[in-house]
Amino acid sequence: MPTSWSHKLSPLAINLYGRMWDYQTLTWMPFSWRGLDFTNRLGIAGGVDKNATQIGGWWSLGAGFVEIGTVTPLAQAGNMGKRVDRDIPAQALWNRLGFPSLGVDYVAEKLANIYKPHFTPIFANIGKNQATPLELAHEDYTRCINKLHGLVDAFVINISSPNTKGLRNLLDEKYLENFLKFIKEKLPQGFATPLLLKLSPDMTIQELEVVLNVSLLQGIEGWILTNTSSSSNSRKNLSFPEEGGVSGRPISEVSRGFLKSTMDILGDRRSGKLIVAVGGVLSEEDVFDRIDLGADLVQVYSSLVFNGPFFFRKVNDYAHLKVLI
Ligand SMILES: Cc1cc2nc3c(=O)[nH]c(=O)nc-3n(C[C@H](O)[C@H](O)[C@H](O)COP(=O)(O)O)c2cc1C
Repeated sequence: MPTSWSHKLSPLAINLYGRMWDYQTLTWMPFSWRGLDFTNRLGIAGGVDKNATQIGGWWSLGAGFVEIGTVTPLAQAGNMGKRVDRDIPAQALWNRLGFPSLGVDYVAEKLANIYKPHFTPIFANIGKNQATPLELAHEDYTRCINKLHGLVDAFVINISSPNTKGLRNLLDEKYLENFLKFIKEKLPQGFATPLLLKLSPDMTIQELEVVLNVSLLQGIEGWILTNTSSSSNSRKNLSFPEEGGVSGRPISEVSRGFLKSTMDILGDRRSGKLIVAVGGVLSEEDVFDRIDLGADLVQVYSSLVFNGPFFFRKVNDYAHLKVLI
């Protein structure tokens, strides 16, 4: 099936699956953080369920948590033209979607109508509209937080997508501090929902260190590493266009390296913070490798394409076998 078709059809199938089957608890390495209970460590990465339309499906498939979004304040179509592709032998995905979103009002309504209490924790990944100038980006994030406050269990601030012009500049030291300060100042009264930051794999280690230090000081409580890569290294021997971001096997090493560096840079300051690993996790072994490196939680996108949606069950079986051995 052409990539664009499967990209459109799979959400319908997942939604249908959730309507047909009971929610399923897969329990391995249960974990609690900030009052949130995770029965297992494997969840859905940002971008898979952009509009919170398939949460029941992920719960029926046994996901340990679900990240919805990226959600933007206003509905937008995203980039035009070819925007998704895959290379099956290389287990690689490419996209230049640019945050297609039905908008935060639509997503809030979907979230208001799902099963409560949440069967698993739900994170909301939030972004800015393409038309919002970078200097006003913080207002878009604030708007999403205000609208979704009370409906989700954590927010993921996404300033690491390569597909929204200029977005990654917000990771620069000169923008990041004020950007996060503004968001913090405008949080709703009584706000106690954790704020996480999703990082780009295309930063240098020095840049990573700055981002971690600045965001820690501004009250960020965890990091998701990493988003897609736009580096030429990630598309070596692949025929993907130059723009856009690559996921899957080609970014496995760099995402893994970012996780190791993050653990080193944070040292003792890591205590109480949430580390979520994503990027090139394509096998059961990969999941446990990231946990062994220090990740609290692991997410997948590409694996759902190359291994299918029953990957959660495969990992569950593997986890139980590991305990027996
Ligand atoms: C088609 C596609 C769309 C994506 N959309 C988003 C998004 O909206 N927000 C986001 O934070 N990450 C998005 N991502 C990045 C994934 O969440 C993840 O960080 C990246 O794909 C690496 O994980 P993987 O190797 O398991 O795919 C997207 C990835 C793909 C392939």
